Amino acid sequence: MAEIRLAIEIAGLNLRNPVMNAAGILGLTADLLRRVYEEGAGAVVTKSIGLKPRMGHPNPTVAIVEGGLINAMGLPNPGVEYFLGELEKLKAGGIPVVASFFGETLDEFVEVASRLSEAGVDALELNCSCPNVEGVGILGSDPGAVKRVTEAVKGCVDKPLFVKLSPNVSDITEIARAAERGGADGLTAVNTLRAIALSIEARRPILSNVTGGLSGPALKPVALRCVWEIYEAVEIPIIGCGGITTWRDAVEYLLAGASALQVGTAIMTRGLRVFREINMGLRNYLEENGFREVSELVGLAHES
Ligand SMILES: Cc1cc2nc3c(=O)[nH]c(=O)nc-3n(C[C@H](O)[C@H](O)[C@H](O)COP(=O)(O)O)c2cc1C
Repeated sequence: MAEIRLAIEIAGLNLRNPVMNAAGILGLTADLLRRVYEEGAGAVVTKSIGLKPRMGHPNPTVAIVEGGLINAMGLPNPGVEYFLGELEKLKAGGIPVVASFFGETLDEFVEVASRLSEAGVDALELNCSCPNVEGVGILGSDPGAVKRVTEAVKGCVDKPLFVKLSPNVSDITEIARAAERGGADGLTAVNTLRAIALSIEARRPILSNVTGGLSGPALKPVALRCVWEIYEAVEIPIIGCGGITTWRDAVEYLLAGASALQVGTAIMTRGLRVFREINMGLRNYLEENGFREVSELVGLAHES
């Protein structure tokens, strides 16, 4: 019987399997990210890192809703300088690291990306779900700004760059194409979906920020549709993200066009064993259906 291979190549990265953690769920310490890798992830993704330390929003920052969570963390992080120390520890263990990053200005995006790249991350993930560097709305809803930031970052780093898209747009393919034109090596789809949770006792919004981002199973059909549309619009590979909890979800994302996957909220609901569970289920699915490699599934549902 032919050997089943979970290993993938995406944007020049060779990973032992396609399943990573999604940015932000587990913080930034090397110890936690190392555990994610030991529990079976193909690569680890950091929380989004900015130039300077940032407090984020006051509590409450997370509300539990049916089928998921709504969070408004406000991008809390200790800044790039702190993370470089953690990165050194991770790299000593030979773990593939994707560094998620953001900036408050175009120059900040470039500076953070350059420092992470020089420090030896394996790839970068540009978080578009942050205030627009040109001061209007959210960066991820402005195709011109997405192209400019992507171009500026690609101009100064020699690592694969994934642009992580927001689903809070009317046409995600427009933003995906803008990132591709800017030189992105791949796209991560998607970040959280704008949402609100109310307390009927307090008769107020639960989150201090009023609105937040929906994640978990409730997000999955929307995120899967985003991956489907992006796959038909661009040539670069997609990392699917949004509500992936079981191996069945993983297979759906691959069939819709994702080449790799990220798991966020399910780490909280299932624990770190979710990486092994998904990889084991994926392996069985490949074997039982006569496939040998993960890449054979990518985009298969688009074939007429
Ligand atoms: C508590 C929390 C913190 C997050 N922080 C980040 C972050 O720092 N950067 C980012 O790009 N996405 C962040 N996200 C979004 C996730 O990476 C992911 O895109 C989203 O949760 C959808 O995946 P899921 O349904 O598997 O959780 C965060 C999500 C949650 C729930």
